[in-house]
Amino acid sequence: MEIAIRSSDTVALLTGAGISAESGLKTFRDAGGLWEQYRIEDVATPEAFNNDPELVWSFYNQRRQQLALSAPNAAHYAITEFRHRFPNTYVITQNVDDLHERAGNVNVIHMHGSLSGIKCTKCSYRRIDLEPVNSVPLCPQCSSRLRPDIVWFSEMPYHMDSIMNIINICRLFISIGTSGTVYPAAHFIEIASGRGALTVLINKEYVHCSSEHFIEGSAAETLPVFLRSIGVNNG
Ligand code: OAD
Repeated sequence: MEIAIRSSDTVALLTGAGISAESGLKTFRDAGGLWEQYRIEDVATPEAFNNDPELVWSFYNQRRQQLALSAPNAAHYAITEFRHRFPNTYVITQNVDDLHERAGNVNVIHMHGSLSGIKCTKCSYRRIDLEPVNSVPLCPQCSSRLRPDIVWFSEMPYHMDSIMNIINICRLFISIGTSGTVYPAAHFIEIASGRGALTVLINKEYVHCSSEHFIEGSAAETLPVFLRSIGVNNG
C-alpha cells in the first residue's frame, strides 16, 4: 500500500486499548482482558457507582497504579515523529491512560475521560492526580462522593463536536488497536470513509469495519513502519 498526502492534510488517528497493550496495560475484550475479570455493569456504569462505590474505586485504583508503572511504547512515539511531518495530526483516543501525552503526542482528545481525572458527582469540582485512592474520596467543596472522571456506559463521550469536525475534514483516518464494538467511536471510520478519507485499520486481528486497508500486527511493530511509509505529495 502506497499512501502520499499533502503535508497540510488533516490526519485522524483513532486509538483503542490495543495501542497500550505492549505498554503492559490490559485491553478489555482480548482473552484475559478486563471485561473477562469484571462485569461492565459492576464497575463501569453510573448505577454501579451508586450501588458499590468501593468496588468501582478499587477497579480504577488498580488501573491507576498499573498506569503509574507503565511507559509509552514505539507506537505512541511513532505518532509524535509523524506529526513533525504532518502537523495537522489529531489523536482521538478511547483510552483513559496518558501514554500518548507522555510520548509527546499533542492534539490528543480523550473521548472516554482520563484515569488521572477525579470529579464530583454533584458539583463542578474536578482534579487531576494519580495518587492511590483507598476509600471513596469526598468532594472538598460540597462533601459529595468523588468519582473517576471516566465516561461510563450510558454516558455521553467528551469532545464530540471537535471530534466530528476532525473526522469530517480528515484526508487519512487510521484506526489502531480497537475492537470497534463501542459506539460512537465504532462509527468514525465509516463516517470518515463516507467523506472521502483514505481509511486504514491496524489491529492484531481483523475486526469488521469499512476500512479500505488492513494491516495485521501489533501496534508497536506495525504503526512506526506504516507511518514512516506515508509520503508527502504537495504537488
Ligand atoms: P478492546 O479491548 O475492545 O479491543 C482492543 C483491540 O486491540 C482488539 O481488537 C485486539 O485484537 C487489539 N489488540 C490487542 N493487542 C494489540 C496490539 N498489541 N496491537 C494492536 N492491536 C491489539 O478495546 P477498545 O476497542 O479500546 O470504554 O474498547 C473500547 C471501549 O470499550 C473502551 O474505551 C472502554 C471499553 O469498555 C469504556 O470503558 C467506556
